[in-house]
Amino acid sequence: MSNKLWGGRFHGQAADWVDEFGASIHFDYQLAAEDIEGSIAHATMLAKQGILTAEELEQIITGLKKIQKEIEAGTFEFSVKNEDIHLNIEAKLTALIGPVAGKLHTARSRNDQVATDFHLWMKHRLPVVKEAISNLQATLVDLAADNVGTLMPGYTHLQHAQPISYGHYLLAYFEMLQRDYERFTFNEKHVDILPLGAAALAGTTFPIDREFVAEQLGFGHVYHNSLDAVSDRDFAVEFLSNASILMMHLSRMAEEMILWTSFEFNYLELSDSYSTGSSIMPQKKNADFAELSRGKTGAVYGHLMGLLTVMKGLPLAYNKDMQEDKAGVFETFDTIIAVLKVFTGMVSTMTVKKDKMRAALKGDYSNATELADYLAKKGLPFRQAHAVVGMLVYQGIEEGLALEEMSLKELQKASNLIEEDVYEVLDPQTAVNTRTSLGGTAMANVEKEVVAAQSLLAQR
Ligand code: ARG
Repeated sequence: MSNKLWGGRFHGQAADWVDEFGASIHFDYQLAAEDIEGSIAHATMLAKQGILTAEELEQIITGLKKIQKEIEAGTFEFSVKNEDIHLNIEAKLTALIGPVAGKLHTARSRNDQVATDFHLWMKHRLPVVKEAISNLQATLVDLAADNVGTLMPGYTHLQHAQPISYGHYLLAYFEMLQRDYERFTFNEKHVDILPLGAAALAGTTFPIDREFVAEQLGFGHVYHNSLDAVSDRDFAVEFLSNASILMMHLSRMAEEMILWTSFEFNYLELSDSYSTGSSIMPQKKNADFAELSRGKTGAVYGHLMGLLTVMKGLPLAYNKDMQEDKAGVFETFDTIIAVLKVFTGMVSTMTVKKDKMRAALKGDYSNATELADYLAKKGLPFRQAHAVVGMLVYQGIEEGLALEEMSLKELQKASNLIEEDVYEVLDPQTAVNTRTSLGGTAMANVEKEVVAAQSLLAQR
């Protein structure tokens, strides 16, 4: 017989490198706490149902807790010979309490065990992700509150488009993060289902009580189909998808930080603690952490594609392919927590160069729409107004004059609808203040949105 825990029908031994190939202990050791938690709940249920004696239960629980202490202390020796976290723990339990350890696996398979561990692992971590998102949201709202009245160019195609409030810009990211937060909340719904009790794939003949196990582990539901229970990795795909969307948002903010801290823009300056220098160029101050965050988006997307592809076309129920489901999820969790933390640090310590933002609006023609709207409000069809202002912009560029620098006489040559009040309209401050349409950048709107965001966060 082979020396494996499942070795009964085997006579030959695998070579070490083959064991190594099949093992997952290199990464699934991270499920140790959840594996023990799940085993204690399972054993407790077996005893309640009369499948284990009270004494057997006590031995098993004492052994598992001892193992937990060793793992926490870092003295537990994980071995590739025991393949994965489940068998590592079971082998150690056997060494500690003898053959009674073998009763723990009654009415259970590693298939429902690993699925349970993975669900539990995520159940414990989704709140951590949500908190990290909330922290960044709070930082953005604080900065927005300070910058309701900070004017800057809004961009489309990276060209100056129309003046906006920098607070409005910051709240755009608040909103994206709010949807990310909600996506992870929705993810919790699908994580909150207990697979344990599905056994290998078909359920069990033992009189188990799955709802009791669910209650002990804090699950709101149990899977109602044993095949689905051991085959489902949707919750992990959802996690990676949510993480990808989150990283997509953060990579956009990162890009703007990188751009805006450049010499050309000079809108922001990162604090010394969130930037780096160059080993050769003494003047350098690089936005490395924004760049790194932008770069890490690649691996997160990769893990999403990786798991989708692992699951594609897999026949029901468990297949060993599914062992490949965990490493990418673990790494993604570490990545998004670190990136959210770095962003919170960067945003809360950076300097906003309000005067530079404001100065960028000078003579940039981003008030051209104001003039077109002005004429349209006086009855000129908007298309015609657009053409009139387009010609004035052309003329201004030729003569080196901003629209607001042109004399009233000059402006009236283009349209006699233009009067003295035009200069007020051409002021970027007016352009922002008057964009009071719902969701617009008007300072009054942004102020209200800051309050709404603050109260949303206060409810958490
Ligand atoms: N290490 C395995 C995994 O992560 C545990 C489940 C193994 N089940 C099996 N029938 N080989 O997927």
